[in-house]
Amino acid sequence: MAHQSALIAEDIDAYLEAHQHKSLLRFLTCGSVDDGKSTLIGRLLYDSKMIFEDQLAALEADSRKVGTQGGEIDFALLVDGLAAEREQGITIDVAYRFFSTDRRKFIVADTPGHEQYTRNMVTGASTADAAVILIDARKGVLTQTRRHSYLVSLLGIRHVVLAINKMDLVGWSKDVFDAILQEYRDFAAQIGLNDFTAIPMSALKGDNITTRSDAAPWYAGPALLPHLEAVEVEDDLQGKPLRMPVQWVNRPNLDFRGFSGLIASGTVRPGDRIKALPSGRESTVTRIVTMTGDLPIAVAGQSVTITLADEIDISRGDVIASAKAPPEVADQFEATLVWMDEEAMLPGRPYLIKIGARTVGASITEPKCKVNVNTLERLAAKRLELNEIGVCNLSLDAPIAFDPYAENKDLGGFILIDRMSNRTVGAGMLHFALRRSQNIHWQALDVDKTSRAALKAQRGRVVWLTGLSGSGKSTIANLVEKRLHANGRHTYLLDGDNVRHGLNKDLGFTDEDRVENIRRVAEVAKLMVDAGLIVLVSFISPFRAERRMARDLMAEGDFVEVFVDTPLEVAEARDVKGLYKKARAGQLKNFTGIDSPYEAPEFPEIRIDTTALSPAEAAERIVAWLEGELEYTI
Ligand code: ADX
Repeated sequence: MAHQSALIAEDIDAYLEAHQHKSLLRFLTCGSVDDGKSTLIGRLLYDSKMIFEDQLAALEADSRKVGTQGGEIDFALLVDGLAAEREQGITIDVAYRFFSTDRRKFIVADTPGHEQYTRNMVTGASTADAAVILIDARKGVLTQTRRHSYLVSLLGIRHVVLAINKMDLVGWSKDVFDAILQEYRDFAAQIGLNDFTAIPMSALKGDNITTRSDAAPWYAGPALLPHLEAVEVEDDLQGKPLRMPVQWVNRPNLDFRGFSGLIASGTVRPGDRIKALPSGRESTVTRIVTMTGDLPIAVAGQSVTITLADEIDISRGDVIASAKAPPEVADQFEATLVWMDEEAMLPGRPYLIKIGARTVGASITEPKCKVNVNTLERLAAKRLELNEIGVCNLSLDAPIAFDPYAENKDLGGFILIDRMSNRTVGAGMLHFALRRSQNIHWQALDVDKTSRAALKAQRGRVVWLTGLSGSGKSTIANLVEKRLHANGRHTYLLDGDNVRHGLNKDLGFTDEDRVENIRRVAEVAKLMVDAGLIVLVSFISPFRAERRMARDLMAEGDFVEVFVDTPLEVAEARDVKGLYKKARAGQLKNFTGIDSPYEAPEFPEIRIDTTALSPAEAAERIVAWLEGELEYTI
């Protein structure tokens, strides 16, 4: 590799030693291919000589053959393979490229610029220390520039370079540069981006890239690369209070118990007082253990194992923090959320949230608004679609230690994961904890679920019937209740149509309303089980995620899922309420099975094939199943 360092040839050991201790800057480039982004990245790789000799020869040959620069080297060709893939929609991921200079190592995240790639940009930006926002001097500040800048400021990237490129095409005009700068400054102030460095450049000609160019004598600032070499990144993290999310508890034998993780911020020394969260227990650091021996001090960015003076309970996902300045602990938050999945975010749907080393269940309780990323306008929203950004309230299944994202990215940044597919569906930033969660406590009651059920000589639980409209759920549920009642059981039947007349009369049939419909009825069913009742729930409940949520709300074994399995053709042929006819005629929107999906249960406790069993036989089967279990469990 033709690295520019003369040390490589002279003293490879000295070079490697120096290279190892160089600091690393991760940065992001924003802009479209037309702005010269590929050319800029190609130029940086070329000028830092991070290209293999054979790549260089190929680049020269390709430039002569297919280049756009009249036989001169076309730097964009270096990164073009990727661009071509993107055009075909093959790669929508972020490309990371590495290069280094004598002073620093760099990882540049190259993300596509279009709005449909917002999620990729967020992915690329999540670990970036700096961002280079490209502007074509002929075009000035575009919608795209605003969107990229908004995302960069949202993600808290503090070091921003405004690369005003293609200055050669505007005759290196200071007036053009100043006008763009003024326009950008006005816009940036609105999004709180007050600190940025504007550099006039020509990536193609190499002006103001590695060295200051004579082309713009009026420009007194740095060239791009020296500026990126000088950006300070790590120090600010070390000055903050200690935060170490525990990745694992290291217990090789009974005599050693260490807590391993990456120090997200601050410093730690033996003798320091720490607080473990969310438990709030305190102790003192005794040792900082690494593979190469104990350390007297460890700082942000280092992975270490810490031992403590006291046997306090700490598990994976907890946070070890400075006892003097610990993070807050809460389970409800306001946050900004970027949605990254084809399937929309639905309030009330159960997801998993991963924050630091902790993963817990979470749902969005209230989307407050979404932001038009091009105009920054705030709009009312009930859901977020792919690439949309919104502000929402979140509710977690358990309290976690956190810092606002603006203070600490590691303890305030999170991803949301789909519980069924394990896909990352969103990423976000915590703003603050909602106080209401801290002011509501769980009241312990002396008469409990078991004693209430015992008095009724039964075991309370939910029999959850799911199936298409017209599948026979209500008919069967009604018969089941009659039989249980005759057997002396205490029951209640929650029927979709009936509950929608009262508690849920504000809800319609959009996906988000159905999610809320099920969430409410599941909560009601849970209270009834707590009261010791056998609760029959007869709701279409078309989505697996919400049936799973209902199951997870109940104690193990308290949720009996009954799939009333009727093929669509059969339910439609019955059409007791005439709704299928209306739906087919287009008079009824979002009708399950027609233009709204039904996700059949994969592992129901009971499956009823209504083409083979009469409603009475179906009811009998469910009762037999329940009574068999009841005798066994009480
Ligand atoms: S769910 O999907 O949210 O679980 P739920 O069981 O409460 O539905 O209500 C379903 C009942 O509402 C159906 O039995 C039917 O009578 C009526 N209904 C009215 N419009 C629709 C629709 N678009 N889709 C399904 N059911 C509808």
